Amino acid sequence: MKRTKISTLLQTDKLGCAVNVKGWVRNRRGSKHVSFVALNDGSTINSIQIVAESENFDEYLLKQITTGACISVDGILVESQGSGQKVEITAEKIYVLGAADADEYPLQPKKHSLEFLREKAHLRFRTNTFSAVFRVRHALAFAIHQFFNNKGFVYMHTPIITGADAEGAGEMFQVTSLDLDNPPKGEDGKVDQTQDFFGKKTNLTVSGQLEAELGAMAFGEVYTFGPTFRAENSNTSRHLAEFWMIEPEVAFADLKENIDLAEKMLKYCINYCLENNKLDLEYLDMRLKNEESQLKKEHRSESSLLERLKLVVNNEFERLSYTEAIKILLNSKANKKKKFSFQISGFGDDLQSEHERYLVEKEFKRPVVITDYPKEIKAFYMRLNEDGKTVRAMDILFPEIGEIVGGSQREERLNILQKRMKEMNIDEKHLWWYLDTRKFGTCEHSGFGLGFERLVMFVTGMKNIRDVIPFPRTPKNAEF
Ligand code: 4AD
Ligand code: MG
Repeated sequence: MKRTKISTLLQTDKLGCAVNVKGWVRNRRGSKHVSFVALNDGSTINSIQIVAESENFDEYLLKQITTGACISVDGILVESQGSGQKVEITAEKIYVLGAADADEYPLQPKKHSLEFLREKAHLRFRTNTFSAVFRVRHALAFAIHQFFNNKGFVYMHTPIITGADAEGAGEMFQVTSLDLDNPPKGEDGKVDQTQDFFGKKTNLTVSGQLEAELGAMAFGEVYTFGPTFRAENSNTSRHLAEFWMIEPEVAFADLKENIDLAEKMLKYCINYCLENNKLDLEYLDMRLKNEESQLKKEHRSESSLLERLKLVVNNEFERLSYTEAIKILLNSKANKKKKFSFQISGFGDDLQSEHERYLVEKEFKRPVVITDYPKEIKAFYMRLNEDGKTVRAMDILFPEIGEIVGGSQREERLNILQKRMKEMNIDEKHLWWYLDTRKFGTCEHSGFGLGFERLVMFVTGMKNIRDVIPFPRTPKNAEF
């Protein structure tokens, strides 16, 4: 018999039909005479109940139906006698496809901590929380492609191995095939990188932006969606060494159009989940309420997950300049009473996540876009403003998350770009191809980068970025 997914069966009203389901046992309870098995196949947060009368089955077979086992069930879909579900399956035949040793299987039908489940990341998809999180992650990825496809953007695959440091921050993982115990050396005693695989020093990309700009100068509108790597040793709940970034790049667009695009995209994606992942979001909303009820009042969020998502979708993002933001922070009670770990002293200070969250959660109570940062704290490619001090940068800050998007209008004027690169000690030789776009048909253009996991965190309400990517890569951790 052909398998039907549990999500389909739970919505159908075709009672009395013969069906087959396959999935993993979440729980089995019952008596000597009858077993109730909660079976889940990952198609929905809900499990289907299988009812097996003991007299119809071999005793040894029933014994193997333990939490974690994979089974196939032929049976009849009937109206459920119990409460909690509309339909259930009266089992006629059960096949144990893969037993799971009950003494060894780590996921028991009880609440496990997120930390424990991180160590069992190979199995955690089989819990309600993580099945919901990763279905939402999928939906967000799909929504992003749909959003850009609807607008005629070209999806561009930018290289993962590159010789460039797009952000100029130097937080890169080097890629080499040299024997690290015995590398070839030049006359100067240094490692001879011309003998390495690519004939030069290469690294894992920190951003696809520079290559995306090349695409925008031909297709007009492109976006990337791929893995990016940063060797920053920040062991925080918002940083990964390997994360996914979406980077649109748009010709003929200025900073305002860039922000408009980012705001539309974020709202589109969140709306997509509100419409298509209702059950998952309701579950995650309830999960978060339970989790926060254990916390002291001052650590609880002011709104629920679903309220927060609707707040973002239904409100315009607040837009203000860096200079205005600094003024607000300088005058804030938190700063005057020295509540911030990093005091704000004036123009030039980099905003820390505590300041970003103050602006979003206390001052404006909605997403905030900050523009026109001092050039010293931003990357070389951002367009210099008339004042000579600030650049056409924008960061989008979200409640609970802080920075979710970073972008800018790009410096399209060759001479100013060269001057900025010199000031920041960036060697033109490595970026000759990037500079070529400013020589051959340059034009005003803008783009941004959305940290995919930060968006997944926001939509699922998960507080640690390690819980929204299947197998997190963080300092001292590359298991699985
Ligand atoms: O602000 P960032 O560094 O900007 C860029 O890389 C630009 N090239 C983007 C562009 O204009 N095309 O990174 C963009 C976003 C951040 O706002 C943040 O959401 C996310 O990427 N991000 C990280 N996410 C997880 N772990 C990390 N270590 C991250 N670093 C940045
Ligand atoms: Mg940034």
